[in-house]
Amino acid sequence: MATGTVPGPGKARGVFSAGRAQIAEKTLRTDNWRASPIFMAVILGIFVVYSGVRLFMNDNYYAAQEHYLTPMYSPCISEACVEGSSDFGTWLPDLGTGVPIAILAFPILTLFRATCYYYRKAGWRSFLLSPQACGVPEPWKKYTGESRFPLVLANWHRYFWMGACLLLLINTFDAFKAFEGVGDGIGMGVGTVIMWVNLIALWMYSMSCHACRHILGGQLKHFSKHPVRYRIWKFISKINPKHGDWALISLFTVIATDAYIMAVSAEWISDFRFFN
Ligand code: FES
Repeated sequence: MATGTVPGPGKARGVFSAGRAQIAEKTLRTDNWRASPIFMAVILGIFVVYSGVRLFMNDNYYAAQEHYLTPMYSPCISEACVEGSSDFGTWLPDLGTGVPIAILAFPILTLFRATCYYYRKAGWRSFLLSPQACGVPEPWKKYTGESRFPLVLANWHRYFWMGACLLLLINTFDAFKAFEGVGDGIGMGVGTVIMWVNLIALWMYSMSCHACRHILGGQLKHFSKHPVRYRIWKFISKINPKHGDWALISLFTVIATDAYIMAVSAEWISDFRFFN
């Protein structure tokens, strides 16, 4: 093991602090450890750009004939919402051009994902390099953790989760509404299937959340006295190890659902109907 010049132990923190092995190399890892943070940076970058463009587009979010409302604009509660898209009322005024219609839902969903344990790991590694990978020291000499703004907001994840669950209930309503026929009665198209796939992915992502397990099945001294909450805790414990997968899958299903509804709404494509 090579040794060399490292910051003085008096001032340094973290891996450079006194008592830690004094290693000159940036890392002793020889595998391709950069691949994962770069991959995540690309994925998250695509999502941020796509959702940013869609947020300010304020158009093509509701396919009226097929009754498809994109999850990115749900619930549509502004007076500026197109006819038929506001099942929960229009209690926000039209704030004018340039102000996103989804001004209420978007911040909740952004903070929910941004404070998710999985995205925090991904973001810390890909964007803050803190650290980039296990066994790779971070470049920063100071570390304040999540004790200051804005990272302190991470401690409120459970509240953003509650907000996101409320929106998810509304998404569930939207998915049922997608069974309304083009004419009268019930109907089903490719868009209905896409909306349901997205809904399942979102529920799996939200229900496998670490905070969800604590809220629904935690803080108990005796599981035996709370059999229902014990069952919930056991179920969430089973799906929780795949939380990271659901975080990514649901990211793609949201984009796919929104892109499909935008395309149908703008009449770039027509929705294939299985019936009515
Ligand atoms: S930890 Fe990821 S959504 Fe809660």
